[in-house]
Amino acid sequence: MSSDPYGDRGNKDVSVANPKGTGTAHPVKRGGSAHPAPGGPFLIAEGMTGGYGTGPDILHDCTIAVEKGEIAVIVGPNGAGKSTAMKAVFGMLDLRAGHVRLDGQDITALSPQDRVARGMGFVPQTSNIFTSMTVEENLEMGAFIRTDDFSDTMEQIFDLFPILREKRRQPAGELSGGQRQQVAVGRALMTKPKLLMLDEPTAGVSPIVMDELFDRIIEVARTGIPILMVEQNARQALEIADKGYVMVQGANAYTGTGKELLVNEDVRKSFLGG
Ligand SMILES: Nc1ncnc2c1ncn2[C@@H]1O[C@H](COP(=O)(O)OP(=O)(O)O)[C@@H](O)[C@H]1O
Ligand SMILES: [Mg+2]
Repeated sequence: MSSDPYGDRGNKDVSVANPKGTGTAHPVKRGGSAHPAPGGPFLIAEGMTGGYGTGPDILHDCTIAVEKGEIAVIVGPNGAGKSTAMKAVFGMLDLRAGHVRLDGQDITALSPQDRVARGMGFVPQTSNIFTSMTVEENLEMGAFIRTDDFSDTMEQIFDLFPILREKRRQPAGELSGGQRQQVAVGRALMTKPKLLMLDEPTAGVSPIVMDELFDRIIEVARTGIPILMVEQNARQALEIADKGYVMVQGANAYTGTGKELLVNEDVRKSFLGG
């Protein structure tokens, strides 16, 4: 695999294969329940503080919100805790303080599986497809919580990403980086989520492919699915963002509309290369 430029992708899901024998951030929580918490944004993760296992806090009073119809983008330096924040929103990390509310319900105590059932779709930064399975099988896996006929949803995903229809019988591992990201996003869409969370969907792809992926993401947002996205292509991502969060050392550093952040002197100097 050393010649594989996308070697950091693919199925390294610890629940499938765990070479190091150390669990990371997948507590199996059962029996948590959601309770009504009306009002406020469609998604709000408020005052999140917490870290991995018994380790130090990575997130410090971090707050992220997404309104209906919005694209919200989290940017910030490597190691700032962006992925950790996404995992916390998805329930892969126990919060020591703070709570997560989705669509008027407090879901802080729910497992990731239960959050999927409540409408969260999450594409993690790594291990987001099954490389040995075909494109179609990956999409079928995405529909794991559904008991109804999901063929219409699969057709919609093939309409959104036509190349996946063409390659549906091919192992996902044979696809290019940009195409794999389409599989990953498609997989998350198979549950018909009410909110789509993407961690660095354009990592490792060319600028042209990045633009195409952003166009598809905007298209998904236009269908009414709010999007929370982490991006390392900060400038480009903020250009399409209704709301932006700059995270530094596990905390909110700047928050504003995408445009506000793009013209902010300090944000420009420190995070956008001038
Ligand atoms: N599974 C993990 N276990 C322990 N620490 C982790 C784990 N994943 C990330 N970290 C630590 O959390 C901090 C934030 O990492 P991360 O959320 O991946 O940052 P970003 O996504 O902004 O690059 C880093 O110090 C990293 O070393
Ligand atoms: Mg990350």
